[in-house]
Amino acid sequence: MDKIIRWGILGCGHIASKFATDLLLIQDAKLVAVGSRNQEKADAFGAEYGAEHRHGSYEALAADPSVDVIYIATPHNLHQEATLLCLQHGKAVLCEKPFALNARQAKAMIAVAREKKIFLMEALWSKFLPQYDKLQELIREGKLGTIKSVLVNFGFRPLQPVNPRLYDPALGGGTIMDIGIYNAFLALSVLGKPQVIQATMTPAGTGVDEQCAVLFQYPDGAMAQLFSSFTTDLATEADICGTAGRLRLTTRFFDTQASLEWFPGRMDTRELIEVLASEGFGYHYEARHVNDCLRKGLTESPIMSFADTLLLIETLDAIRKAAGIQYPADE
Ligand SMILES: NC(=O)c1ccc[n+]([C@@H]2O[C@H](COP(=O)([O-])OP(=O)(O)OC[C@H]3O[C@@H](n4cnc5c(N)ncnc54)[C@H](OP(=O)(O)O)[C@@H]3O)[C@@H](O)[C@H]2O)c1
Repeated sequence: MDKIIRWGILGCGHIASKFATDLLLIQDAKLVAVGSRNQEKADAFGAEYGAEHRHGSYEALAADPSVDVIYIATPHNLHQEATLLCLQHGKAVLCEKPFALNARQAKAMIAVAREKKIFLMEALWSKFLPQYDKLQELIREGKLGTIKSVLVNFGFRPLQPVNPRLYDPALGGGTIMDIGIYNAFLALSVLGKPQVIQATMTPAGTGVDEQCAVLFQYPDGAMAQLFSSFTTDLATEADICGTAGRLRLTTRFFDTQASLEWFPGRMDTRELIEVLASEGFGYHYEARHVNDCLRKGLTESPIMSFADTLLLIETLDAIRKAAGIQYPADE
């Protein structure tokens, strides 16, 4: 592998811009190519972020020999198709969350990566942030005691004009796949796979969930309560509560803006836990990890493994089944 890992971005939308900005923070990474369904869009995006090769189709990007790894930044419904396209052309892949629309798609993607021995990872970026490492460290050290309850909420009212992908069933719309995934990821990270999953939702006009309430139950009595909404601006915070105290991830618990607060007793005592300051939007942590994996010749991430991705998508499938959220791709 060359000294510089050469990146491509597939789909020049909202998150692709943030990712491209953060790639500039990594010395041994360079955005060399972008692919869009539209040549003019690829040209503009490539010019803005310094990508030399600007392709008017995803196929041309996947076939570009100057690229080592491709970041897939399309709506959820295209994650499987785009990942398979890139793997077929021998490109390593970092695929946005949710990895796929359901576990069946995810398994098919992983099977091809395994068969071809090519690196593939879900871009679950929160898992690579400093506050997540700190949280895991505190849990390992036993600071919280036995964890009994996890309460997470994530809600915002989409800005106008509303991005159609948020509500379109064909694009994997609804809160669960877009933001509820972060709630589920956090509960799974802390408590593991639940024994029972219950969920209920309020349907939007298109049938996908505009609000969803989820409950996980565990054999030792632990519970997680997760809430996601496109109809209200929620605190977007998380509380992880154990027999020795409560840890709070403050607003935007899933990204670099969150702080960690420790409540050892009742409400009156609070301590701020120091966490390494984050740079950028926070996407360079996962990108740097991909670089490391590629240099080591790994085909699977030791941090966001295939087992982690499958547990997450199987949990989302179970939530959707319980709440009655269906996509055409499930048929
Ligand atoms: N990690 C995070 O923090 C984070 C944040 C937001 C979103 N995401 C994930 O990133 C993915 C993309 O989200 P986004 O907000 O960036 O989406 P977006 O801006 O609406 O769309 C991304 C790009 O996908 C391409 N595309 C292909 N087919 C499309 C279709 N039928 N409709 C619309 N666009 C289509 C378009 O690129 P071209 O026109 O260039 O082909 C579009 O610009 C989603 O899976 C989402 O879950 C992650």
